[in-house]
Amino acid sequence: MSVARGPGDPATGLPDIPVFKPLLETEELGAAAAALELGWLGMGSYVGDFESAIGEAVEAHDRHVVAVSTGHAALHLALMLAEIGPGDEVITPSFNNITDFQAILAVGAEPVFCDVDPDTLCIDLAAAEELVGERTRAIIVMDYACVMCDHEAAADFARRHSVRVIHDAAHSFGSRYQGRAVGSFSDLCMFSFDPVKLITSIDGGALVVRSEDEVAALREMRLVGMGQPSTVMYENRRAWTYDVRRLGFRYHLANLHAAIGLAQLGKLERIIASRCEACRALSAGLAPLEGITTPPTDFEDVAPFLYWIRVADGRREDLRDHLRARGVDTGIHWQPGHRFSLFESCRRGPLDHTERVGEEILTLPLHSDMEEATIERVLEAVESGLCA
Ligand SMILES: Cc1ncc(COP(=O)(O)O)c(C=O)c1O
Repeated sequence: MSVARGPGDPATGLPDIPVFKPLLETEELGAAAAALELGWLGMGSYVGDFESAIGEAVEAHDRHVVAVSTGHAALHLALMLAEIGPGDEVITPSFNNITDFQAILAVGAEPVFCDVDPDTLCIDLAAAEELVGERTRAIIVMDYACVMCDHEAAADFARRHSVRVIHDAAHSFGSRYQGRAVGSFSDLCMFSFDPVKLITSIDGGALVVRSEDEVAALREMRLVGMGQPSTVMYENRRAWTYDVRRLGFRYHLANLHAAIGLAQLGKLERIIASRCEACRALSAGLAPLEGITTPPTDFEDVAPFLYWIRVADGRREDLRDHLRARGVDTGIHWQPGHRFSLFESCRRGPLDHTERVGEEILTLPLHSDMEEATIERVLEAVESGLCA
């Protein structure tokens, strides 16, 4: 049997401070064991419980949560629910995750690449105005890392142009916007619980929708179109007869994943508090340094998923090398979408800010329960890198 090695094991030669580090403790291990012992491995009671717990956590009291296998699946189903298809266009920030663009292609529509606001790094809604055309059917707004998008302006944009808003909240689970919990106010809101997110179910996602009709449609779509009642499945049973009324995919969440997600949700407050504290320490330590920009937030109302800096003057790659040599790993979230070959022919507006951000953005390590000594090492590495 081969011995698996991960970050922190000197034999790997990998930096010992990884960018992401899951918080998996006895609760998650116990939950996984209990779910396996139950012996109902597919979608079942844990999934129903996970949906209820997500609904509570995001204060979606007048809404419905549907859990799915990934954030990508949630985006794909959101676009299907909005009846977006061939010939339609969806405006998205080019500075976004590849899954958003692929979900648009998956329904046969075309992404239209929009620039970002240079401060928030979220979509620039004034720039989006210039991109609206006859074929525009939806806009994707995404909260980047630890900064919120202007959701009031997004809702106004949608009203004026009669388009749907798909709120990509993969980075903002647990955050608040103008005092309201993310997930409680958007048209269609999606979450991701992939391995590196604030809360993980190893892989998983969810959509928060407003109407009973939307929930009913989603429940079928995630089960390859089967009209198998979720209420029956949430009792760890299944119906053997049902109708198939619509296109669907195998996008349901399994009990094992939901069990781990539930265990993580039980620590949400602690996870958020510890990450905010780490982010504040990083921002305070980096504030005096020249040549970098830090996120424009005091981390009061956000649940930070990742911590970014921008490195000016073409020094990002040198700084990355410097950090890596000191055992500090970094990430790049992301390469702008419009630069990928697949999207060469897609419509776009001016992308000056996106181009620049794509060259400068750098993700520093951020973990739940991050130790002070680890934060100090990250700060020391960045400082010495910039002074080198
Ligand atoms: C902004 C954003 N949207 C969507 C996704 C997709 O989520 P998943 O990895 O669960 O498919 C991610 C994943 O990192 C993301 O960062």
